[in-house]
Order: sequence, then C-alpha cells, then structure tokens
Amino acid sequence: MILSDDYKNIVKLRFNNINELPDSFFKEYYQQIINPNTFNNGLFNVFSLKDVLYYLQKSHVEYLNVWYPKIETITNKIQKQIGVNELTLTLNTFLVNYFNELSNHINFEEKVLYNFVNKLLNNIYVESEKVFVLNHFLETHSHAIEDDLLSIQKRLINLNPDIKNNSNFVELFNLFKLLHNDLKIHGLIEDEVLIDKIYQYIDNHF
Ligand SMILES: [Fe+2]
Ligand SMILES: [Fe+2]
Repeated sequence: MILSDDYKNIVKLRFNNINELPDSFFKEYYQQIINPNTFNNGLFNVFSLKDVLYYLQKSHVEYLNVWYPKIETITNKIQKQIGVNELTLTLNTFLVNYFNELSNHINFEEKVLYNFVNKLLNNIYVESEKVFVLNHFLETHSHAIEDDLLSIQKRLINLNPDIKNNSNFVELFNLFKLLHNDLKIHGLIEDEVLIDKIYQYIDNHF
C-alpha cells in the first residue's frame, strides 16, 4: 500500500501542532496507517489533550466531507459503467447503511466524549460525569465499523470475481482499505491516547 500525496496533504490538516512535529513523526505515522498493527501510542506523547481532540474532530469531519464523497464519486462511475444490477445494488445499500452508522458513531462521540473533553479544556469538571462518560465509552466503543469495509469488498468479489480487474473497483477497494486502516488508527487513538490524556489532564488540573 502506497499513500498518495493527496492523502498526505489532506491528513496534515488534522494536526493543530504541525509546526512542532518533526518529519520523523510523519514517517512513523504514515507507517502506522499502512500497517495499523504497528500502532504505538507513544508516538502521540508530544500531543496535548487539546491537540488530540483537534486531530480526532478534524478526522471526523474529513471522513464525512472528504472520503465519503470520494467513495460516492467512484460508485457513481461504476453505476454508469455497469448499470443497475445485483452488484451495484448491494454496494449502494451497503454504503447508505455504512455512512449512517458512521455518522451515528461520530455524533455519539462528539456529543458525549468530545463534549466532556471540551468542558475540561474550559475548566469545567464534574467527577460523576467523568465516571459516566469514560465507563460508557470504554464499554461501548466499537471497532466493527472499520472491518465492515473489508467484508463488503469480499461480498462483492464473491458476487463477481471479475471486478478485481475493473479499474473502478480497484480504485474503490484501495479507498476502502485506506479508510479501514485510517479508521483503525483513529479508534486506537481514541481508546489509548485520548483516554490516557483525559486522566492525565484531570490529575494535573483538578
Ligand atoms: Fe471517532
Ligand atoms: Fe470511535
């Protein structure tokens, strides 16, 4: 997997502290996106709680406003090329459900977890809220949303193995893989970096 310049330029906007980050940071960050199994939360030690929140919020906006429309554009191209059939219907149904689910996931996080962090950053802290928000998040935070992208790819290939040679499908599957990996790192940052930074921040400020 090779990350395009387009991708690298887009994700740079997630970093509030970009001027403090050395090239070596990006080298490792991109490596983690290429292979999420190498995720190492230590890479984000230089981030403040505010930086992590900024990164995560920007990513949410990006998923819905950049990556989703890109996927839609390719799906429209496919529909034009091969018409309406079982394959395109399966793909379209999946995408509608998928982005509904992704928006719900994002809305919930913004409303509950990120809102709590924003309050901390504005010096508002209620201990009972911390217990509720963090327990609830840790118990319910799901990573299924990433893996769905790989299972739909399998389902489509099962329906018609020839699509592996269709350049539009190849482009679509590359985008699925990229989004899958990116979302995986995003979820790990929420689980392992954000939560840790929240505890540290509370310890230091309240
Ligand atoms: Fe998120
Ligand atoms: Fe999440």
